[in-house]
Amino acid sequence: MSAVTLTVRGLDAGFTMGGSTVLVVRDVNFDVRKGEMLGIIGESGSGKTVTGMSLLRLLPDNGVTNAAEIDFLGVDLRGLSDEAFRELRGRRLAMVFQDPVGAFNPAKKIEWHIRGVFDRSASKSPAHAERARNWRPAAIQLLKDVGIPQGDNVLRQFPHQLSGGMLQRTLIALVLAFEPELIVADEPTTNLDNIVERQILRLFRDLQRRLNCAFIFITHDMSIAHMLCDRIAVMYAGRIVESGPTKDVFANPKHPYTQGLLASALALEGKTDRLKEIPGELPSPSNLPPGCLFEPRCTFAKPVCRTKPPGMTALEGGRGVRCVLYGDG
Ligand SMILES: Nc1ncnc2c1ncn2[C@@H]1O[C@H](COP(=O)(O)OP(=O)(O)O)[C@@H](O)[C@H]1O
Ligand code: SF4
Ligand SMILES: [Mg+2]
Repeated sequence: MSAVTLTVRGLDAGFTMGGSTVLVVRDVNFDVRKGEMLGIIGESGSGKTVTGMSLLRLLPDNGVTNAAEIDFLGVDLRGLSDEAFRELRGRRLAMVFQDPVGAFNPAKKIEWHIRGVFDRSASKSPAHAERARNWRPAAIQLLKDVGIPQGDNVLRQFPHQLSGGMLQRTLIALVLAFEPELIVADEPTTNLDNIVERQILRLFRDLQRRLNCAFIFITHDMSIAHMLCDRIAVMYAGRIVESGPTKDVFANPKHPYTQGLLASALALEGKTDRLKEIPGELPSPSNLPPGCLFEPRCTFAKPVCRTKPPGMTALEGGRGVRCVLYGDG
């Protein structure tokens, strides 16, 4: 098994408003290994984005993060100054958002962006230095690698002149050149049409294989997680309720919430004849049920579920589930 790149233990995150703090992410624990893609999945509002943003210190000013451990390749991320953290983000960590526009300086052409990455990594090796010196052919090759054959033209364009799909491809090229050890991508294909989306998803998988980096892929779409991720962590109301190898979780989901998510995903894909939705809705983070957070929606709930929050039970095969139906809860 390869080395662990990122270890997260006891991560809480939330927001301070009107003098009080509401946590929207609670006691999140996971590891991501080198060469592995971890999917964080769950319906909208479950805390996936806040988890990614808090790890990369990108929450807004009223954001609050607390953790027992956040270790990135031996560096305790909690202890870094903001300046040291920015430096790390610029060199070893990358975040890819839903809207690629925000990653580009609108006043600068694509070539400026690619040259910037080449220049910043020039000191890594003689080959990197050569790439920075002789940047144009390297940039054209890079764009070709992400499915842009007319790279020469694209280099001379401004970000707003490219379509959403082209811009996301260009961003993937930048990440490829930047060679981070950890990438966090948050719903990066949500704005794209289906065909382009599938192409871009394949590029993300290629990117991760080429860089052999650790990758956290955040999505609400079960079919995307199934296609891309080695392991998944299912979030519900700010907590991870199930985790394990993707193929095992999909073949045999344990948590009633995961079972519901999979049933509704199959229905959406037309693989069952009735649309199955999980009844009810996510609880408000400021008014959570006292026991299991899923209890108000769970068809298997027992009396104990109403009073005692279940702990995470470790199962065989690297799986975990937060539910009293397994182990002692
Ligand atoms: N800037 C913010 N201020 C206050 N609450 C927020 C903010 N951003 C997100 N939230 C709340 O945090 C919770 C989790 O949101 P989010 O992480 O965006 O969910 P997901 O990415 O899973 O859809 C939601 O209840 C959301 O309303
Ligand atoms: S702990 Fe109880 S309410 Fe929660 S998911 Fe399991 S059975 Fe359902
Ligand atoms: Mg989100």
